Amino acid sequence: MKEVKICVIGLGYVGLPLARLFSTKYKTVGFDMNQKRVEALMAGHDATLEVSDELLQSAIDNGFVCTSNIDEIRDCNFYVVAVPTPVDENNNPDLTPLYGASTTVGKVISKGDVVVYESTVYPGVTEDECIPVVEKVSGLKFNEDFFAGYSPERINPGDKEHTVEKIKKVTSGSTPEVGQFVNDV
Ligand SMILES: NC(=O)c1ccc[n+]([C@@H]2O[C@H](COP(=O)([O-])OP(=O)(O)OC[C@H]3O[C@@H](n4cnc5c(N)ncnc54)[C@H](O)[C@@H]3O)[C@@H](O)[C@H]2O)c1
Repeated sequence: MKEVKICVIGLGYVGLPLARLFSTKYKTVGFDMNQKRVEALMAGHDATLEVSDELLQSAIDNGFVCTSNIDEIRDCNFYVVAVPTPVDENNNPDLTPLYGASTTVGKVISKGDVVVYESTVYPGVTEDECIPVVEKVSGLKFNEDFFAGYSPERINPGDKEHTVEKIKKVTSGSTPEVGQFVNDV
């Protein structure tokens, strides 16, 4: 098994605390399309106040990097997608950020890699909407060349007691072996 290198895509209320926590155990890169957000994080401050300046700075000192540069996430092998899932004016889910993040994953994913969706979605979105984008952009085949997982975030922003390290996570994988691997990570 090669060394796990994690990329969390979408560094908001959900993605940043998760990426910071992963960075204590694995090489971790945070990717966000919002360059201002990336710059503020690399300067040591999380405007959402989910991660304290102290914890963020110590993660950075230990090698945690946030970036908007896709070239810096090519050598990752475990992608976690935590982009927003808003609704439109008719209250229908707007999957645009998920399509965007899946396109990014498709550009960088390699054989043997895993992509785990963390965004809140209705059943079927991972396999019917996101994975086809990753397959099309990458040219790789799902469950042969690359694998997927789903692990919805259950965090309640602002709750300083039930933090990401204390919440029991639900995990899954696209094969039994990948399910075990996602769960282990
Ligand atoms: N915040 C919550 O209370 C909460 C709790 C549980 C689950 N969730 C779910 O987690 C997911 C993320 O929510 P959030 O509150 O962290 O969102 P957020 O708006 O705080 O952050 C999302 C981040 O993703 C970035 N982004 C958007 N599109 C991108 C793309 N294509 N590529 C790279 N970066 C991109 C944005 O710039 C932003 O920094 C949603 O599906 C949400 O429903 C949220």
